[in-house]
Amino acid sequence: MKTSTAAMLTLLSLTMSAATSSASDVKVEHLGVNNTLVRVNSDGRYLMMPVQESNDDATVNVLVDGRLDRTIYVRMAKSKVDYSVPLDLSPYKGHDVVLNIITTQARSDIREAKGDACWTNFTVTDTVDTSNREKYRPAFHHSPLYGWMNDPNGMVYTDGRWHLYYQTNPYGSKWQNMTWGHSSSPDLINWEHHPVAIEPDGLGTIFSGSCAVDSTNSAGFGKDAIIALYTSAAASQIQSLAWSNDGGMTFNKYPGNPVVTLESEARDPNMFWDKANNRWVLVLAHALEHEMLIFTSPDMKEWTLESAFGKGLGAQGGVWECPDLFPLKIDGTGDTKWVLLCNLNPGGPFGGSGTQYFIGDFDGKTFTPDTDAQGNVPTKWLDHGKDHYATVSWSDAPDGRRTVIGWMSNWQYAAEVPTKQFRSANTLPREMQLFRDTDGELYVASVPSPELEALRASTFRKPSSMSAGTKERKINLPTANDGICEILLTVDPRKASDVIMTLANNAGEHVTITYDVDAQTLAFDRRKSGVTDFSQDFPAVTVTPVHSRDGLLNLRMFVDRASIELFANGGRAVMTNLVFPTSPYSTMTVKAVGGNARISDLTVYSLKPTAL
Ligand code: FRU
Repeated sequence: MKTSTAAMLTLLSLTMSAATSSASDVKVEHLGVNNTLVRVNSDGRYLMMPVQESNDDATVNVLVDGRLDRTIYVRMAKSKVDYSVPLDLSPYKGHDVVLNIITTQARSDIREAKGDACWTNFTVTDTVDTSNREKYRPAFHHSPLYGWMNDPNGMVYTDGRWHLYYQTNPYGSKWQNMTWGHSSSPDLINWEHHPVAIEPDGLGTIFSGSCAVDSTNSAGFGKDAIIALYTSAAASQIQSLAWSNDGGMTFNKYPGNPVVTLESEARDPNMFWDKANNRWVLVLAHALEHEMLIFTSPDMKEWTLESAFGKGLGAQGGVWECPDLFPLKIDGTGDTKWVLLCNLNPGGPFGGSGTQYFIGDFDGKTFTPDTDAQGNVPTKWLDHGKDHYATVSWSDAPDGRRTVIGWMSNWQYAAEVPTKQFRSANTLPREMQLFRDTDGELYVASVPSPELEALRASTFRKPSSMSAGTKERKINLPTANDGICEILLTVDPRKASDVIMTLANNAGEHVTITYDVDAQTLAFDRRKSGVTDFSQDFPAVTVTPVHSRDGLLNLRMFVDRASIELFANGGRAVMTNLVFPTSPYSTMTVKAVGGNARISDLTVYSLKPTAL
């Protein structure tokens, strides 16, 4: 069974093109107060469906030669059109296509229903403009060409490419119609967008999951087949299998699905090959029970439940989602520990979603967490910003790397952020490392992936040193490409109690980053960062311990159009936060309180836009 290609959104020309429809391309027939047929009378490639985000979803039954091909949910425009989304008609060429649309709004009569803005705004076109033209669409982060995105998932490295699948709604910029979108990259910075990889079917929509290369052909789908395990979400959440024999471009669904069922909500299966025991291990989020279930299997089809981890441990708020379990070497030693990533929402460190992790041992069946000096299992966060979620790693990454990427948003306001054509980007890729801190505890560092250095277009400011005290020192930031840049510096606080760095624009909007020397913390204040009023949960101050070895603060900051990622002390402390300045931040000032601080190696790079 091959995944239908019906809604594969082959993304053609990126040039602006007027819709090529005429009134006769589409015929609208109102059957009742809440029921309308839209007949397509054109050979064009895409039917553009008009969306109004504040409206409720209409149920759209796509009939092909009178038979139901698929049902999708689209916020059909009522009083105004916010944007239009494409339905790819190419798989239906030569067939009759009719949308049987059921709206939910209460109306007094059919005349009122006829007045909806959508009915006069369906168009047929051969090209879709997916160029990066929105103010807040990132210039060098991965984001979808259009439509909604949440979790990155199913990431796998094969044949020299980093494949990134992600939760997407191809029919609007809010969560719905969950499908696996697909992009891939040779270098983790230049992303090519592909047609959607796994589409909803009779078992449900396609929630998060994982992929792995089956190098021993254990599942019988071919040596080196890419196997995907994901959640089919409908009345129940069940786990399903699909495989790809074409390098991850298209997937075939396993006819014996589902392969794991439980009585309560369970999702986001994450599997890996356990070399020591010659079998697969699967970690599954038992969402409402706040635990991760561990299964094993010889072939990915028959799974045995081995153990459960997490009840009563770590942060317990909300639901547990998107697990990942992997070994890491402790820096500077030959010892290996296992890390269990455990995303949860809500209950994150600053409200909403966040990624906690546990460090411990794994014997092939059971994960046993380490305890601290007091005998407790500590709660640790991978990133102390507000916009870092659903973080998981690539399978089969080269050179023993453990590379992760996270969703750069927060469920508190992801659907409200001031973007339109698309919603949400992913974080920059990061390398996981394990270090022992001065408190004797092990922590995970997130180090920017080495490939990111290739983003540097030019040195905007050569390394320099300065003293900063009560008198502010101000430096200019690049203006090219909306000011996208990377800023590096080292702070020696000397006698200062606080060192304050402020990124600001001409409108007075600013982000303040404060190194509190006594507390050994770094705070990120975005309360005045620009547009913040779309959600009461957006204005915030986030704080991280700095994990400094010597009192120095080494900072590396990536500034894109709508995000700042701050890596301190070689990734030992990280904060990822969205910001929506009305114009790019154009200066950075540094000052110190309580004495002069020494700033050295202050360097600014202009970066290259890669998301075109
Ligand atoms: C996490 C999550 C997952 C689920 C997916 C649905 O953000 O809720 O648990 O698989 O999103 O889109």
